Amino acid sequence: MTPKEKIILTGDRPTGRLHIGHYVGSLRRRVELQNSGQFDKIFVFEADAQALTDNIENPEKVRQNVIEVALDYLACGLDPQKSTLFIQSQIPELCELSFYFMDLVSVSRLQRNPTVKTEIQMRNFEASIPVGFFTYPISQAADIAAFKATTVPVGEDQEPMLEQCREIVRRFNYIYGDTLVEPNILLPENSACLRLPGTDGKAKMSKSLGNCIYLSDSADEVCRKVKTMYTDPTHLQVSDPGHLEGNTVFTYLDAFSTDEQVKTYCPDYNNLAEMKEHYTRGGLGDMKCKKLLMSVLHDTLEPIRQRRAEYEKDIPAVYDILKKGCEVARETAAATMDEVRRAMKINYFDDNALIEEQSKRYGK
Ligand code: TRP
Repeated sequence: MTPKEKIILTGDRPTGRLHIGHYVGSLRRRVELQNSGQFDKIFVFEADAQALTDNIENPEKVRQNVIEVALDYLACGLDPQKSTLFIQSQIPELCELSFYFMDLVSVSRLQRNPTVKTEIQMRNFEASIPVGFFTYPISQAADIAAFKATTVPVGEDQEPMLEQCREIVRRFNYIYGDTLVEPNILLPENSACLRLPGTDGKAKMSKSLGNCIYLSDSADEVCRKVKTMYTDPTHLQVSDPGHLEGNTVFTYLDAFSTDEQVKTYCPDYNNLAEMKEHYTRGGLGDMKCKKLLMSVLHDTLEPIRQRRAEYEKDIPAVYDILKKGCEVARETAAATMDEVRRAMKINYFDDNALIEEQSKRYGK
């Protein structure tokens, strides 16, 4: 099926507030894509049903985070005039499509999904895996296919999901005729952004490790977190040579700073490379680097904070944005489902040819 339109679809599980790792890894790019004018439609959704697959006893957590994530989206500059923001569970067509997709995937194929494998281990699900969790890649394929998305901007951990989606779509089209669209993954550009480490230098920002800087953190909180951030444990005196490898402050500066900002806040240097050179040589203290990072993060986060504060003033309006988004999303998914039912020959009542053919067989 050759797509006529360029359609973006992406989303997040609403299990926590979004942090600056999400920002550099995906949110910043989404806003750029939204404003590029290069896409006909953009869908960004909260995968609450997927979040429930491993939080089934914790529905309140998902419920609370739906509004947090919506506020984070809007704060980052996702604009409901340009992007459709919606909630997965409110689109029953997605369940319907998942149900048919289940016939196109084998259990052993699902078992080979490396992301799901790791997640099963992390959650100690080995002994007893909820079926819904095990099959979430199928439901994710339905999320994508129902909107005929051509472009799915996600992190590298989602590569196996996209591959599985493409296989399902290919198999569907092969059996039932060209109906659905094979999506392309759009990975983050900057490798420093693929996975921003936590403030403690550990591989990943995660709520349970308490090493996140949230988009909704106050300016004071951010400064406090930067002050205690992990740097180079061998850099004890300012005069000591410092190491950049694994140095969280420099990883963050790589992800967030521009040379303009370095020049403005640290006029001794023309760019970050010069500053790194000084740090490696020795003679540059951690605090100076952290001060720069505080300023850089402030420049990024202050507009986000202000926009969030505006939306927080009218929470019912935010729910209304989501509700309207769900209506638009549902129409789109329903139109795809009409085509899917026709292709799968389960459109009994809107197929006059079928009814006529059956009456002829009976000679009436
Ligand atoms: N699995 C994704 C995540 O954990 C969320 C998600 C669900 C998604 N369905 C999707 C992302 C469809 C892109 C497209 O982040």
